Amino acid sequence: MCEKCRGNYYITTPIYYPSAKLHIGHAYCTVATDTMARFKRLQGYNVMFLTGTDEHGQKIEDKAKEAGVTPQQFVDNIVTGPKGVLDLWKLMNISYDRFIRTTDDYHVAAIQKIFKKMYDNGDIYKGTYKGKYCKPCESFWTESQLVDGKCPDCGGPVQDAEEEAYFFRLSKYAGRVQDLLENTDFLEPRSRVSEMVNNFIKPGLEDLCVSRTSFTWGVPVDFDPGHVVYVWIDALFNYMTALGFENDKYDDLEAFWPADVHFIGKEIVRFHSIIWPAMLMSLNLPLPKKVYGHGWLLLDGGKMSKSKGNVVDPYILAEHFGVDALRFFLLRSFPFGSDGNFSNELLINTINVDLANDLGNLVSRTVAMAQKYFGEKLPTEQLADEEKDAELISMVSGLRDQYEAEMEKYAFQNGLALVFKVISRANKYIDENAPWVLAKTEEGKPRLAKVLYNLLETIRVCGGLLTPFMPATSEEIAKRLGGARMDWDSLNTFGVLPADVATVAGPALFPRIDMEKELAALEELNKPAKPAIEIEPYSDEKVDFDTFCKSDFRAVKVKACQNVKKSDKLLQFTLDDGTGTDRQILSGIAKFYKPEELVGKTLVAITNLPPRKMMGRESNGMLLSAVHTEKGEEKLNLVMLDDAIPAGAKLC
Ligand code: ME8
Ligand code: MG
Repeated sequence: MCEKCRGNYYITTPIYYPSAKLHIGHAYCTVATDTMARFKRLQGYNVMFLTGTDEHGQKIEDKAKEAGVTPQQFVDNIVTGPKGVLDLWKLMNISYDRFIRTTDDYHVAAIQKIFKKMYDNGDIYKGTYKGKYCKPCESFWTESQLVDGKCPDCGGPVQDAEEEAYFFRLSKYAGRVQDLLENTDFLEPRSRVSEMVNNFIKPGLEDLCVSRTSFTWGVPVDFDPGHVVYVWIDALFNYMTALGFENDKYDDLEAFWPADVHFIGKEIVRFHSIIWPAMLMSLNLPLPKKVYGHGWLLLDGGKMSKSKGNVVDPYILAEHFGVDALRFFLLRSFPFGSDGNFSNELLINTINVDLANDLGNLVSRTVAMAQKYFGEKLPTEQLADEEKDAELISMVSGLRDQYEAEMEKYAFQNGLALVFKVISRANKYIDENAPWVLAKTEEGKPRLAKVLYNLLETIRVCGGLLTPFMPATSEEIAKRLGGARMDWDSLNTFGVLPADVATVAGPALFPRIDMEKELAALEELNKPAKPAIEIEPYSDEKVDFDTFCKSDFRAVKVKACQNVKKSDKLLQFTLDDGTGTDRQILSGIAKFYKPEELVGKTLVAITNLPPRKMMGRESNGMLLSAVHTEKGEEKLNLVMLDDAIPAGAKLC
């Protein structure tokens, strides 16, 4: 640990199942964890931020089979492939310090040792498993835990399962776990505690089945071939193997274990608040200080899942709105501990109100005025603060510590609300002090300089406190304020900028978004992609054979072809049809061909149509062409015959 550091801090995200591409709901937890990690670094902690992927289990094995690849190839593609997990975290500016994959050799070997240790101490024993299994959730349930005969987590069907298996003596730890949940702050929000105790512990905690023989994609139990370790043992211990537990790859256990907090989604609270502490108790290991079960981002009140066809692609959102705006939105719009309804409209509205109007405007107006009235630097001749400055200044001075108190509770939304209250106050301060009036007289200038200084200083503190949420934006704000300090110590003091602060102009931080246009554009993207080539639907209407046979199709040769004046559609063809007399046909295909390209070609015409007048010219027949749509664009190709076919040859 470094001398200046306030201490070590270890924070984790769940490790993600690379069974499908991640959606914005997945990014929620990781953005929150990143924000917390950045906040702790800003405070001066030596942070270890761990994330990773949970790559074993039947679901992955099945999906790989479906895709016709090995499970390893399958997960490699989703983790390290294009627009995979690693790419997504890079895009979202996630500052993780370590990334663990449960297929990493060191982790696999460590899990085998851990399993053996619990077997040796008697907490893992061999028995017969009888019960219900939910494949998508990789969860075993007893009859009594089912809801209407379905998986209590996902509501999906469960299947009977019976096999020889290893069990973990979870029942032995029921009392200690209940005490941990009820009498400490281990699990937050506290509202999740009663659910765990009432639904899982009080009905009687049964021993947990911790091995499988029905599939092979997992960590093998090395002393009993055929068994693989239950994926949740494999997954949960990632938090420790990634620090070096039971392996030599890392040596950070002493510094970082026990974890300060595991951030997780609410549906995996059971694993983290009951099974995880019980296994640590079995091994006499220190328990993490806290497990925080956040809420879900919902779509139309339902779970964001691919099966419902309503996944929101973080790549598209980031491309449209910018990464910082997206990060900000996730934590500004929903209380972290509760569910929140995601919508594109809410996203755009949040950007327009908070970022474009409030923050963006404050920065643009202040910097623009400073430059307009004083040029690059503020003058050092500034009046002292007046009484009417007191409110803004006291708000800014007290902001950091209030914000800190909220952030320590993971109340990101409240922390941001405090900052935006000050930003609004600062915008009001501009209107109250009417800098444009002060600028009119020389006597007004020293007061004007003071007003602008107070605004710049407010922007500095707010910008600094936004760093964990919007790192790139804060950096840009610091630049606009001439490379302002935004370190933690500087953020609870008003008056850190030099009096003659130099400002730097720049484009709007967050341009206003046209709601209607943007929603329409997103909706367009959400539509299922059209196939590259589209063809006309076939006709059900029958034509009788004799009628069809009356159509006189002939090979014709193009003698001349020209555009028709005042028409951008028509081409006029002079054709040799084998009769010795030229035939004239007009065709609306000028969009697709230049006349000169067609001279000499052998085409197909239907010749016994009644003559038609087009743009005052007579057309005797029609040329056949093939039409289709390609990437939404209409395409047309004239039907061309082998030039060896003589003019007038009948097609039948
Ligand atoms: O559960 N809103 O992985 P996972 C908010 N491998 N959070 C969401 C969400 C949404 N709509 N959808 C998913 C696993 N998440 C295990 C973890 S840890 C030892 C093993 C969150 O890929 C979800 O709540 O299914 C979970 O915390 C995380 O994404 C990973 O989900
Ligand atoms: Mg899940």
